[in-house]
Amino acid sequence: MKESQGYIERITRVNRDYQRLDLAVDKSLSSLRAGQALLVRRIDKDYEAERWVPYLRELWFPVEILASNMLVIEQPARSHFTPGQLLSIMGPVGQPFRFRQKLRNILLIAYNSTPAALLMMLAPLLERQVSITMVLMGSAREYETSHLPGEIEIIQADDDLSWSDMVMTLGWADQVFAAVGPGDELEHLGDIMRVMRERRNDVPANYAFGVLQRQLPCGVGACHACMLNLRGARKLQCVDGPAFDLTTLRLN
Ligand code: FES
Repeated sequence: MKESQGYIERITRVNRDYQRLDLAVDKSLSSLRAGQALLVRRIDKDYEAERWVPYLRELWFPVEILASNMLVIEQPARSHFTPGQLLSIMGPVGQPFRFRQKLRNILLIAYNSTPAALLMMLAPLLERQVSITMVLMGSAREYETSHLPGEIEIIQADDDLSWSDMVMTLGWADQVFAAVGPGDELEHLGDIMRVMRERRNDVPANYAFGVLQRQLPCGVGACHACMLNLRGARKLQCVDGPAFDLTTLRLN
């Protein structure tokens, strides 16, 4: 991870609620892979003269890499950004998602969170001919999906987090990645695990992963604010995450 500077080159409204920011960034960030994030702070022109601080940064998951020095970020339309805004960027943060080598079908779940943390995997997986289903749960059902690739099947879950053909979808998926909003994330991942266990005889290891999006005070493993309890170990979201096997996480 290193600190570099970038700026917002273009802003495009993708639907009523979301906008996409094209960021001109250091070339070193073009090697970023799905699952890895950035810690970003808006800065002024005289930033170099200020005392450097790693803290109070926002966690941004890119949704696309456009070119060797251009990343795309999705943000709520209500957040105010202007083209030309300078950014101090620390990254990459975290580990890439680990997909099975023979991945054919993948199930993505967004629960009380936008699916932004999961979107960067879409293009490379579609290129590998992987079939993708995305289930929106809770407040994520308000997420407008018309700007996503048409090959992706979108399902709106019911209030009890189920959907029709759920048993079939869970059997069909080789892997599941579930993004939950910060706050009650362990409780929400526990809900997802419960409904999966009710419909599958067993949920094996390396099948379902929770993707955590807690804000990271330092992002480099120094403060331990992002520590998680796993069975037999403690891990840090910023260093070991953001994806954790749901069979090893201690869920609420
Ligand atoms: S954010 Fe400080 S250790 Fe993870």
